[in-house]
Amino acid sequence: MVLDQGPLPPHAAIEYLAESRYGFSWVDLGVSLQEMEDFDLIEVRNPGDFNRCKDLETMESDLIAFLDEVGVADPDILQRAAARIYKIAHSILRASNRETAWIWLRATPPKEEALLPNWHFDAGFYPSQNGEAQYKFVMTLIGPSTHFYPIPKEEMALRQSLWHRISDQNRIVPLLDPEAIWIPPRGTGVVFLNRFREGAFHTEPFSKHQGRLFFSIVLCSHEEMRIVERRVQETFSTLKKKP
Ligand SMILES: [Fe+2]
Repeated sequence: MVLDQGPLPPHAAIEYLAESRYGFSWVDLGVSLQEMEDFDLIEVRNPGDFNRCKDLETMESDLIAFLDEVGVADPDILQRAAARIYKIAHSILRASNRETAWIWLRATPPKEEALLPNWHFDAGFYPSQNGEAQYKFVMTLIGPSTHFYPIPKEEMALRQSLWHRISDQNRIVPLLDPEAIWIPPRGTGVVFLNRFREGAFHTEPFSKHQGRLFFSIVLCSHEEMRIVERRVQETFSTLKKKP
């Protein structure tokens, strides 16, 4: 699978979104494989979510506490991992020129049962103001990375048939060419548009051998954040109520 661009620094990757063929850009964060090793030393044992919609400057100690809650590793490893997450979050926020961001981390222990993929387009998180594109940054820190299926923006017929089959993944898989699936290399991220008309088609894989730590950032204005924050609260309180 050849993308229409190589990895770009965050600001360039975000700018490139408008002209991207598949609705996503590959982000070079300048993080080496060696710097990712701290994440490999964390064993994800418990499920959990970390959400932050404000006070992003002071989230580092809460990130350490979250990693300690969901994973097992030496305290200095957790500290370095939290510092890395903090640094990436702020570099994406700076590169975006948006006012603020919703930071979300999801920890998932290894899954024993075989799961169907969950191919989907993300929906918008808030009603867009000033017609600005909605996009998010994603990166897998531990475990198998998000899979992307590059669909040219103009291929509306394929986009539509996939959209209609979202609730039945058995009907989606035969439409996809396994050779075309693209997986971002370790230590890199992706920014993608959220709308189905032009956004990225993707799925979050799980493994029975390794837990997963997924990291996403939704960029927005302070005004839009009021809506995002309410949706985050609603979504995560509903999830907690489930048995
Ligand atoms: Fe998604």
